[in-house]
Amino acid sequence: MSKKTVKVKIPATTANLGPGFDTFGLALSLYNEFVVQEENGVFIETYPKSDFLEDPHNNLYIQVVKYLCEREGKTFYGAKLKQVSNIPVARGLGSSASAIVAGILTGYAVHKKGLTDEEFFQIAYRFEPHPDNLLPAWKGGFIAALRTEEKTYYQRIDFPEDIKVVVVIPDFELSTQKAREVLPKTIPYRDAIFNLQRASLFITAIQSRKYDLLKVAMDDRLHQPYRKSLIPGFNEVIKSALDCGALGACLSGAGSTMLALATENFDKIGRSMVEAFSLHGIRAEHRVLEVDKEGAKVDIVEES
Ligand code: HSE
Repeated sequence: MSKKTVKVKIPATTANLGPGFDTFGLALSLYNEFVVQEENGVFIETYPKSDFLEDPHNNLYIQVVKYLCEREGKTFYGAKLKQVSNIPVARGLGSSASAIVAGILTGYAVHKKGLTDEEFFQIAYRFEPHPDNLLPAWKGGFIAALRTEEKTYYQRIDFPEDIKVVVVIPDFELSTQKAREVLPKTIPYRDAIFNLQRASLFITAIQSRKYDLLKVAMDDRLHQPYRKSLIPGFNEVIKSALDCGALGACLSGAGSTMLALATENFDKIGRSMVEAFSLHGIRAEHRVLEVDKEGAKVDIVEES
């Protein structure tokens, strides 16, 4: 009998990009990898080692694979999983989306079925309701998405290759749930208009390569003003990025990571954002990332 190994590689993602709250998402060149074989019983190895992720009940990837197997009317006997996590957990860089997308693609690879958008969302939303992370993790690139009761609509646009994303990852976790609990139930009409204008300008600035518009276009009144109470040094980190020549800066997803878009001075921008965090007693590290255009990659290796 041949033994099948499925290898899945999923990019990190950043949602919102400032004004595009719950709408914009961008895939980044930082990856989680999942290498799995069918097995009797669940055996998980993690790199870096995580006792939490090695417990099958906490491991989102295993939960998704098990769910898909049962959805096919089959019994889930187990899996041998090697999980390499480069995307930090609970930092607004899409680590859960990576596990969900990887689990779905593994399930479909094993059961040899084509995956439609409709099926993807039906399954993915059982585990996380945010297309702004799920879609770029799956498809790569920059995506604008919206969800109605019936359907998810989305469109990908080309993101300029000369823009890099400087991410500054603080050493504290922030759950999306906590970062959503601080949001108000309603917002003033003028704030809705404020974001509508900036989100539209962001898209046109990207499409027309008018980078000087990004600074104003990446401002936001829907989520960052409320979330910044959870991010010590938020204003100073943004300012330090802009002072060093960043095109724009914002919170990554629900945080705690902050990011800057830039075409030069990448390390200088990163170091100054780290320094701004440190003045507020927060340790952080910076990474200079590219936009990932490919999205998820699946390899199936059969050994006889
Ligand atoms: N758009 C979501 C938020 C992303 O900002 O809460 C969370 O994954």
